[in-house]
Amino acid sequence: MNKQIFLATNNKGKLAEYREILAPMGFVIYSPKDLNIDLDVEETGTTYRENSFLKANAFRKIVPFPVLSDDSGLEIDALNNFPGLFSSRFAESCGGYPQAYEELFRRLEGKDRSAHFRCCICYVESPDAKPLYFEGICPGRILNAPSGDHGFGYDPIFHCDEIDQDFGLVDEATKNKYSHRAKALQKLKLFFAI
Ligand code: IMP
Repeated sequence: MNKQIFLATNNKGKLAEYREILAPMGFVIYSPKDLNIDLDVEETGTTYRENSFLKANAFRKIVPFPVLSDDSGLEIDALNNFPGLFSSRFAESCGGYPQAYEELFRRLEGKDRSAHFRCCICYVESPDAKPLYFEGICPGRILNAPSGDHGFGYDPIFHCDEIDQDFGLVDEATKNKYSHRAKALQKLKLFFAI
């Protein structure tokens, strides 16, 4: 099996997590930056699957490796799963993550704070191959104030139920065992092992 894989993301946090999880299996992960590719795929899909496919498919046409893409988001129960698909765009529209945290705290005042991260990975082996999808969920809740600065995105306001710890305080290796991304990647690893 070809152990060189392209990850269709410009998100440094995601890239670091894929490398940490897949490197022990001998995979070498290339990013758009490694291949000097400047392509920003518009996420026009209405589901994580659609968006992950749009990204994987756009890059698979131009790179010589199998492609993985990752569409993910934070879903807050009391906000009807908002920001969800718009997680990244919501933070941008607020002017950055610290402002997005404050806005979410404001919207959650007096409400239940249950939430989960969701991740959908799309794998496209060759330009004419059928896309394969691997999904993972990480349940938890939104904290009352930011805690720690580890991870990326919404990690500093997320408490992970499974380990009863704040993602902003745990080390990379711990997050990479229990996160939504780790769970989706676990399924991908099983597929690769077959
Ligand atoms: P995407 O690039 O459209 O998939 O955006 C995903 C966005 O969801 C990220 O930019 C973060 O805002 C959020 N997100 C996804 N996964 C995580 C995570 O593991 N920790 C914190 N935030 C995440």
